[in-house]
Amino acid sequence: MKNNASLLGNKNKFLILGCGFSGSFFAKTIRKIGCTVLTSSRSKNKDPNNFVFDSEKNIIPDEKIFNKVTHILSCIPPDKNGNDPVLESFASKLKNLSLEWVGYLSTTGVYGNTRGDWVSEMDIPNPFQKRSYNRLNCEKAWIKSGLPIQIFRLPGIYGPGRSTFEAIRSQKIRVISKQDQVFSRIHVADITNAIIYLLQNKNSIKFHQIINIADDEPCSQIEVIQYCYDLLGLKMPKPILFEDAKKELSSMAQSFWMENRRVSNKLLCETLGYELIYKNYKQGLKNCFLNG
Ligand SMILES: NC(=O)c1ccc[n+]([C@@H]2O[C@H](COP(=O)([O-])OP(=O)(O)OC[C@H]3O[C@@H](n4cnc5c(N)ncnc54)[C@H](OP(=O)(O)O)[C@@H]3O)[C@@H](O)[C@H]2O)c1
Repeated sequence: MKNNASLLGNKNKFLILGCGFSGSFFAKTIRKIGCTVLTSSRSKNKDPNNFVFDSEKNIIPDEKIFNKVTHILSCIPPDKNGNDPVLESFASKLKNLSLEWVGYLSTTGVYGNTRGDWVSEMDIPNPFQKRSYNRLNCEKAWIKSGLPIQIFRLPGIYGPGRSTFEAIRSQKIRVISKQDQVFSRIHVADITNAIIYLLQNKNSIKFHQIINIADDEPCSQIEVIQYCYDLLGLKMPKPILFEDAKKELSSMAQSFWMENRRVSNKLLCETLGYELIYKNYKQGLKNCFLNG
C-alpha cells in the first residue's frame, strides 16, 4: 500500500475550510500532488485561491466556491455557541453536491480524562470540558449530515513554526511538572500524510468514520521541554510544581492539565497500515529544530 504523497489524482478539487496551521500544511502538500485547492480564512491572505469565510462575522462566501469540488476538509473549531461553523452556514448546499469525501479535524478532548489510561476509537467519548462537549456535538452533527464524512481526532498539534521551540525562544515557556501526567501529540506532517494515505488507499482498506491520529509515545511535558533545551544547547529552568504554578495559569491553560490520557493510534497504524513519519516527539522536534 502507498504510504507517501504520490498521485491522488489531478481530477480532484479540494476545499479546505479553515486554512490555519494544519489546513495550510495539507493544502501545500496536496497542491504538490497536483490537486486543485481552494482555501478559506477569516481575513484574505496572499493566496489567489483563498477566500474569506467568517461565520462569527457572518461573512459567508458565494456558493460558487463549491463548483466542481470533490473533497472538503474542515479544520474549523466550534463557534462561540458550540455549533459547527461549516454546517451552520452550508449544510443544505453540501447535501446537494456530489462529494467523494469530507474530512473533519476534531480533538481527542472528546475522550475526557482517563487518568493516564489509553483511549481508542472504541471507547465511548466522555468529555470533561465544555469545549469538548461542543466538539462531540459537532462530530455528531457531521455524522448526522449523511455526507461521506471521516472524522480525525487529534491530540496536541505541533510542527515547524509551532512547537516548544517557539515558546522557549519567546520566553513564554513554563516548565511545570505534575506527577504521572502525560500528553499525546502529533506532528502536522503526519496529519496530512495519514489523511492522504487513507484517501489513496480507500478502495483497498475498510472505511472507518472516526480515526485517531497520534504518535506512538505519549509522554510528560517536561520530557519534551528538556529535549528542546538539549537541542538548543541551553539549560532548562528548574520545574515548578503544578500545584504552585496553577494560580498563574489562564483557565484555558489550567484545563489542559485537568485531563490525562494516552491516545492509541492502533487503528490507523496497525489495522490500516499507516506508517508514521515522526513516531515520537524526539523525531518530530528534530524536524522542527532544523526547519523552524
Ligand atoms: N492546535 C491543537 O493542538 C489542536 C489539537 C487538537 C485538535 N485541534 C483542532 O483541529 C483543527 C485544526 O487545528 P489547527 O491548530 O490547525 O487550527 P488553527 O490553526 O487554529 O486554524 C483554524 C482555522 O479555522 C478558521 N476559523 C476559526 N473560526 C472560524 C469561524 N468562526 N469561521 C470561519 N473560519 C474560522 C481560522 O481562520 P484564520 O486562518 O483566519 O485564523 C483558521 O483558518 C481545529 O478545529 C482545532 O481546534 C487543534
